[in-house]
Amino acid sequence: MRIKIECGSIVDFKCDLLVINEFVGVKQPGGATGAVDRALGGLIGRLTRDGEISGKLGEVTMLHSQPGVKASKIAIVGLGKIEDFDLDAVRTASAAAIKKGREIKAKTVATIVHGAGIGGLDAEEAAKAVVEGSILGVYKFPGYAKEKELPDHKIEALVLIDHDRNKTNAYKKGVELGRIIAEAENHARDLVNTPANKMTPSNFAKLAEHIARINKLKCVIIDPKKAGMEALWAVAKGSDEQPKLVAIEYLGNPRSKEKLALVGKGITFDSGGISLKPSKKMGEMKTDMAGAAAVLGTMSLLSDLKPKCNVLGVLPLTENMPSGHATRPGDVVGSLSGYTIEVLNTDAEGRMILADAITYAKQRGATRIIDVATLTGGCVVALGDAATGVIGNDQEFIDQIIRVGNRCGQKMWQLPLFDEYKEALKSQIADIKNTSETGKASPSSGGAFLAKFVGETPWAHLDIAGTAHIDKAKGYLPEGATGVPVRTLIEYITRQG
Ligand code: BES
Ligand code: ZN
Ligand code: ZN
Repeated sequence: MRIKIECGSIVDFKCDLLVINEFVGVKQPGGATGAVDRALGGLIGRLTRDGEISGKLGEVTMLHSQPGVKASKIAIVGLGKIEDFDLDAVRTASAAAIKKGREIKAKTVATIVHGAGIGGLDAEEAAKAVVEGSILGVYKFPGYAKEKELPDHKIEALVLIDHDRNKTNAYKKGVELGRIIAEAENHARDLVNTPANKMTPSNFAKLAEHIARINKLKCVIIDPKKAGMEALWAVAKGSDEQPKLVAIEYLGNPRSKEKLALVGKGITFDSGGISLKPSKKMGEMKTDMAGAAAVLGTMSLLSDLKPKCNVLGVLPLTENMPSGHATRPGDVVGSLSGYTIEVLNTDAEGRMILADAITYAKQRGATRIIDVATLTGGCVVALGDAATGVIGNDQEFIDQIIRVGNRCGQKMWQLPLFDEYKEALKSQIADIKNTSETGKASPSSGGAFLAKFVGETPWAHLDIAGTAHIDKAKGYLPEGATGVPVRTLIEYITRQG
């Protein structure tokens, strides 16, 4: 889908679908919608007053065009209540409209920039959100079926249209930014949706290396066993697939000692290991590398966006499988940090691989750490798919990330890291246990485990178990992988740099 900007009158623009908008409770359409309404002899106003157009967020009302408007069809998309209106509403509305465009097989869709007029949003931010919502909204995982009922319709062009020439430059910037960010997020979705037999640790590592190469980023692929990453190896040794640890570095401020590490859990399949998971929905565990996918997606944006800061992406990649070679519950294993770990439950494997990846990041000079992981089912129980759980050791850092997440439409909610959770991980025979005896408060318990390996470095842990993939499409999120939290990470990094 090409994206263009046109300066001119929307009623005179020839396209298959013209997208305009309406807020809840508006009796007489204004702005660009008002111009179309006048050209249609007041039809939109009448439909609104009759209650056929409600303005509810994401509602799409289709009109066949009439003389006075050159577009073949018109979609009026609801923006919701004006008091709730924000950039995420723009994304949601844009996704609803573009999906309608796909449904009617439009080749060219023209849209006004929701929010840049009456909505009062910054023109660049609004254009960025329109493009993000549109590209994220039409995402579909291609899949592998040889027999398809119908090929998926592809919209050829999306045109952002405005009569105000003064906004063109801001729109250009917003469009470019929105496009690359949304494409990176879609790429992360592709990785997560790919089945585990195709997305093995080696394949993931090759892909990461390729992405690093085309972006001219320094990349190393490490053999965890040789490098003394015993906790990572303890998870990997039950599998026939070789584990990898990939590190990709972006230096946007080489003179600075500051370095942000992004560490992403990359379990390409989590069977639970010897502590085998129940078979129901086990297939979903192909998504257990969503943290690594989000980190890779974020790293892929840095050489384009050029933030003035240093970022190290660390991807511990392995399967978690049961076999005669697998780690047993009760085993004690070492780790890169030197701490020994009593493995009570082999299904608590994410924290094991993150422990070594975090230690590695510190050895490479990380001064701040964000880890991203589908860590616990307990986080899904607590927050569902509404929000990512956040735990950390530095309140200011945590607050900043939560704020950025909210602005990006990727809600985050802090969970506690009380001393009780650390106490419950004390082992009689090793430095730490990988789970508590009770299994209670698993998101916080997982956080407490990671905290031991993080030490004093400012750190935030994002548990995306509930938000990385969803069962049912909503707004600009498709069924399956969501790409969370690529937008938050990149927004955080670019605002810092
Ligand atoms: N990958 C799972 C967590 C998960 C569950 C992600 C559901 C997405 C959806 C993780 O490795 C796991 O199995 N965690 C255990 C931890 C427990 C043994 C302390 C869990 O949550 O049950
Ligand atoms: Zn597990
Ligand atoms: Zn897991």
